[in-house]
Amino acid sequence: MEYYPGPGRNHLFVPGPTNIPEKVQQAFNRGNEDHRSPAFPKLSKSVIDDVKRIFKTRTSTSFIFPSTGTGAWESALTNTLSPGDRIISFRLGQFSLLWIDQMQRLNFNVDVVDCEWGAGADLGALKSKLASDNSHSIKAVCIVHNETSTGVTNDISAVRAILDSYCHPALLLVDGVSSIGAIDFRMDEWKVDVALTGSQKALGLPTGLGIVCANPKALEAAKTSKSVRVFFDWADYQKFYKMGSYWPYTPSSQLLYALRAALDLIFEEGLENVIKRHNRLGQATRLAVEAWGLKLCTIKPEWNSDTVTAVLVPPHINSGDIVKVAWKKYNLSLGVGLNKVAGKVFRIGHLGFVNELQLLGALAGVEMTLKDVGYPVRLGSGVAAAATHLQKSTPLIASRI
Ligand SMILES: Cc1ncc(COP(=O)(O)O)c(C=O)c1O
Repeated sequence: MEYYPGPGRNHLFVPGPTNIPEKVQQAFNRGNEDHRSPAFPKLSKSVIDDVKRIFKTRTSTSFIFPSTGTGAWESALTNTLSPGDRIISFRLGQFSLLWIDQMQRLNFNVDVVDCEWGAGADLGALKSKLASDNSHSIKAVCIVHNETSTGVTNDISAVRAILDSYCHPALLLVDGVSSIGAIDFRMDEWKVDVALTGSQKALGLPTGLGIVCANPKALEAAKTSKSVRVFFDWADYQKFYKMGSYWPYTPSSQLLYALRAALDLIFEEGLENVIKRHNRLGQATRLAVEAWGLKLCTIKPEWNSDTVTAVLVPPHINSGDIVKVAWKKYNLSLGVGLNKVAGKVFRIGHLGFVNELQLLGALAGVEMTLKDVGYPVRLGSGVAAAATHLQKSTPLIASRI
């Protein structure tokens, strides 16, 4: 039996899964259909093509797997690399840690660059590894664009510039699970070879799709890579694409309709406006944190994330208590601190289909919760700081001008 959820609505401010807009819910509320019918490609081709727009790629091929971000990781790795291949990767939070763990379990030779949790990727270490790699033993650089556990956004254009400065042919594989569709991501411009995301973050869909884009260099690498892959094999998809935008197995047609609806919402708002909205919400949240007298987990402003804010709490407070009280008392869902920062950090997710007033409600909930757990905060201080910024920076809604 479902538990009684309380009056009103839940304020879902974890950094994914995110709020599902009404239009997306309506789009997937439908029966099953024949995924081999001549009519199916009208839907499938449109999402295969249009999903690339949020990656800002024209040259890549997209693959939409019935999976999650974790499956998309596996797809990126096993299609392009062979067991024993040397990979450089940065461990700077829970998701980069888990991706590295997957790489190791898939028998790649991972050259791990450990970075402080809260810092971005150590690009100096990348430079020195590339500088000493005359034989081009490094086959790939794998990096998480937005580390969801610490609220750190890495500079992918800088990674590309470093690879180019050494004329190094290593593939660049990027996890954009909590960035793509929310934070500026330029797959073609940054020559990212494989980029990936999941459906339950910026796209505001239910969990269940892993979305991967592979550029021509990555597709070429897939022809010779020796990793065992079955479910995630791009070649199977390409075979079925030739027959007209079909899947090698049964796709979730409901999720594809949901994806269509989410893409339409993003394009209606305008991708650049979506990115600006995330920046506005991120900035407002950071101003609230400052007004509360708390610090971010993110060590330098250049790494601040516009999709998730990880807030450090004073040593005498357990951040897990904040998350519990917020949920129990205010029906507000915040993200817990993970692994190394468990108990020390709570996270406010502000990605996907979320607007200014929703955020202010969440920030009010955080303030009250902080007071509940004994942190001396002046009620209204964070909300006022955030509202001041939002009042000045929020444009008119495009469709209402
Ligand atoms: C940056 C990042 N990468 C990968 C994942 C894993 O995705 P999933 O849980 O969809 O498998 C997550 C999940 O939160 C994430 O935040």
